[in-house]
Amino acid sequence: MTKTAIWCRHAGDNIIGIGAEIPWNIPSDSQKFWKMVEGRQIVCGRKTYQTFPPAKLEGQEIVVVTGDENFEVYDKKKQLTVPDVKVFKNWEKEIYIAGGAQIYNAFIAGGVNKLMPEIIVDCVFQGELLPGLCGEAAEITPAVKVMEKQYRQITPDYELDEVITRIFIRKGEFVDQAVLKHLLTVIDSQSPRLAGTE
Ligand SMILES: NC(=O)c1ccc[n+]([C@@H]2O[C@H](COP(=O)([O-])OP(=O)(O)OC[C@H]3O[C@@H](n4cnc5c(N)ncnc54)[C@H](OP(=O)(O)O)[C@@H]3O)[C@@H](O)[C@H]2O)c1
Repeated sequence: MTKTAIWCRHAGDNIIGIGAEIPWNIPSDSQKFWKMVEGRQIVCGRKTYQTFPPAKLEGQEIVVVTGDENFEVYDKKKQLTVPDVKVFKNWEKEIYIAGGAQIYNAFIAGGVNKLMPEIIVDCVFQGELLPGLCGEAAEITPAVKVMEKQYRQITPDYELDEVITRIFIRKGEFVDQAVLKHLLTVIDSQSPRLAGTE
């Protein structure tokens, strides 16, 4: 089934997080993400799962990738753990890959054809990183390099609050039009198109 990756990366260095934090605070960007995945199944790494606000965890379908077989999910009816991303090679449900860096890089740059998402929602933050954050930078340059070679942009750029949003699809792959329509409806309802990128 269709796999869609959604991220927001920093322009230039492809950083998506520092320590446990996203190093910018753009409410419209997180609103867009939660609208896109509402009622749909998210896949994320254990570290990213632990950064989601409890209010968002309630009732949301999530598959958490973790090597810890004792890891406890928040909502046992809707959420589960898996020990490796390889299980998604033949996953029957539509999934939304939600990070972090280890997960995006494993799906897109891990060299396993059947893991690569058909669609990437590429959001690029143009502003300055928040100062004073501690921890290691999580970055997705390997995944972005693959996207630039093996995917093509099929929408204009949309811009809101210093974030440019556009959709890429994998060259030569069938793309589910209903999924694309859903993603575009969310983006279109929120962000103006950037002039000159039609
Ligand atoms: N800007 C964005 O769009 C965005 C989106 C999501 C996250 N983020 C940020 O990204 C950062 C977290 O990213 P991260 O790369 O450090 O961590 P992550 O990908 O969220 O999670 C890493 C964890 O996932 C598990 N894992 C990953 N690959 C695995 C595999 N092949 N097999 C088994 N388990 C695997 C391991 O869990 P165990 O250690 O439990 O085994 C690993 O420690 C945070 O700063 C977060 O805020 C940003």
